[in-house]
Amino acid sequence: MIALGCDHGGFELMQQVKRHLESKGLAFQDFGCSGTDPVDYPDYAAQVARAIQDGVCDRGILICGTGIGISIAANKFKGIRAALCSDCFSAWATRMHNDANILAMGGRVLGTGVALMIVDTFLDTPFSGDERHARRIEKISALEA
Ligand code: RB5
Repeated sequence: MIALGCDHGGFELMQQVKRHLESKGLAFQDFGCSGTDPVDYPDYAAQVARAIQDGVCDRGILICGTGIGISIAANKFKGIRAALCSDCFSAWATRMHNDANILAMGGRVLGTGVALMIVDTFLDTPFSGDERHARRIEKISALEA
């Protein structure tokens, strides 16, 4: 199950992401927002992060205007590794190397075509499982205050 969250700056792109996931038959839970009226992105980052922490969802996609604020907020949550991606290589590498569990994107940064390719790459790429990457992820976890 994929957890989705966005603010007003990410709303339009999120509608495209939802249509794309539906076309692929992928299940998601939409935590909002519900339109283009201004909202606060930390509220939506928190809902998606908690859905992953609770095991309700195993991956998340967060979109705000830049993807920056919403990824900063999500990364405050223990066990969350939110990666802001604007290209497919980063989406591939953050799964292979960082085992990222949330993809963040900027709705005011990306066109729909590249964004949907980033989504596919993020969802289709496994964690490598390499010892050196697992060790580094453990060190990230150890930094959590
Ligand atoms: C909202 O105007 C904007 O600040 C937000 O979507 C995001 O870009 C913050 O990082």
